[in-house]
Amino acid sequence: MPESSPSALIERKAGKAQGIAIEAVDSAHYKDALKRLDASQRRWLEQTGFEPRPGRFALLPDANGKLARVLVAVDPSEPLAALAGLPYALPVGSYHLADNGALTDMHLAALGWALGAYRFERYRKGTRAPATLAVPSAELAALAPMIEATARVRDLVNTPTEDMGPEHLADAVKQLAKAHKAKLREWVGEELLKANFPTIHAVGRASHRAPRLVELTWGKASDPKLVVIGKGVCFDTGGLDIKPSDGMRNMKKDMGGAAHAIALAGLVMQAKLPVRLTLLVPAVENAIAGNAMRPGEVITTRAGHTVEVDNTDAEGRLILCDAIAYGAEQQPELMLDFATLTGAARVALGPDLPVLFANQDALAERVLDAGRAVVDPLWRLPLWRPYRKMLDSSVADFANSGASRHAGAITAALYLERFVPDGLPWLHLDTYAWNDADRPGRPRGGEAMGLRAMFAFLQQRYAR
Ligand code: BES
Ligand code: ZN
Ligand code: ZN
Repeated sequence: MPESSPSALIERKAGKAQGIAIEAVDSAHYKDALKRLDASQRRWLEQTGFEPRPGRFALLPDANGKLARVLVAVDPSEPLAALAGLPYALPVGSYHLADNGALTDMHLAALGWALGAYRFERYRKGTRAPATLAVPSAELAALAPMIEATARVRDLVNTPTEDMGPEHLADAVKQLAKAHKAKLREWVGEELLKANFPTIHAVGRASHRAPRLVELTWGKASDPKLVVIGKGVCFDTGGLDIKPSDGMRNMKKDMGGAAHAIALAGLVMQAKLPVRLTLLVPAVENAIAGNAMRPGEVITTRAGHTVEVDNTDAEGRLILCDAIAYGAEQQPELMLDFATLTGAARVALGPDLPVLFANQDALAERVLDAGRAVVDPLWRLPLWRPYRKMLDSSVADFANSGASRHAGAITAALYLERFVPDGLPWLHLDTYAWNDADRPGRPRGGEAMGLRAMFAFLQQRYAR
């Protein structure tokens, strides 16, 4: 099923040293590490000019020239990146971490290894297997769901639109429902109009592939209701307000929010969190055709607010607003959404920091804390009410964008907030879901950003 390479973590049998030892060093540990080597190994390091600078590593032979030990230089304050470059840098084989190294957070180090071993292999098989790291079985069991969930996000985002249209995205939800015996509902094409999801239909109707809304429901009806929503724009041309080619180039990733929501729902069900879960994925292509929605059109949304389409490229908030309205009708205890919603969020915080919006301060703090704890940082921007003015319309209740490009991430969030009833705790993540270049543990392409943070937060909130 996964399009990615096999897991690079294997179970370490209790008490057994499996494979070749890797010792993590920093400048403080380097002297001690040298003491554990024999004279010829020390000379090898000297002769090859090894320095314990983060990212460097040394392969050490024994007297017969067999690979005996690996030294890897790390920055202990960056445990996730520490080993992430090794799976394809080390020779194929099995390794384990020596106990006395510079790394204290083995959990994050092992996660980094696994994330660094990911490759998207649907259209081109890898030339080699990743090196495997043997970890205690309890550690492996604790890490596996998040490794799988991250690969799921990456696979879904990396898959090009021809193979990841609205129907394929819905299939991913269906697979998940089947795996966890969850209930599934779906509205396709005209059914969206009949069931009163006009904005989802308006955005998606110009594609030759019908727009849809998929709903997965799972858990005891008596447990607190949690609604998770993800923006599923399988491709964003911009619509009639067409994007320039460089802005359109990566828009297969505009379903990244849906990928996060699907992966998070999987984690929640796998962990059997005591919640009544609703996953909502509006899945569309923002395409161009004779029947495409036009700038200046007014849509009466599910919630009853009228919206003027100021810009057809602000389509994410349109499909989300009907999904949010529907989610709110279930009167959940908490509602959260993920979306690759605005370029402005990237301008504000760059590609690596998702923007968090929350309508309650204490809630925001808990999510930010959770993100810090699992090294999946988020940064909050305010739902600054006075900026609502920027979306004023002369013909409708408000517009989906305005003349000003100022505070674009905030105005998008304010738009969504209008569909969240007062008093309903709500979290919105504007995420990039993409790595522009390869870095250790963060391969170029689709990326989960904010997934670990959200799941850690939910685990705390719904701890039994
Ligand atoms: N999908 C884009 C936002 C986006 C662009 C996310 C690039 C990540 C990278 C979204 O639908 C969009 O086009 N937003 C517009 C809104 C504007 C027209 C008000 C934007 O951000 O420019
Ligand atoms: Zn757009
Ligand atoms: Zn978009």
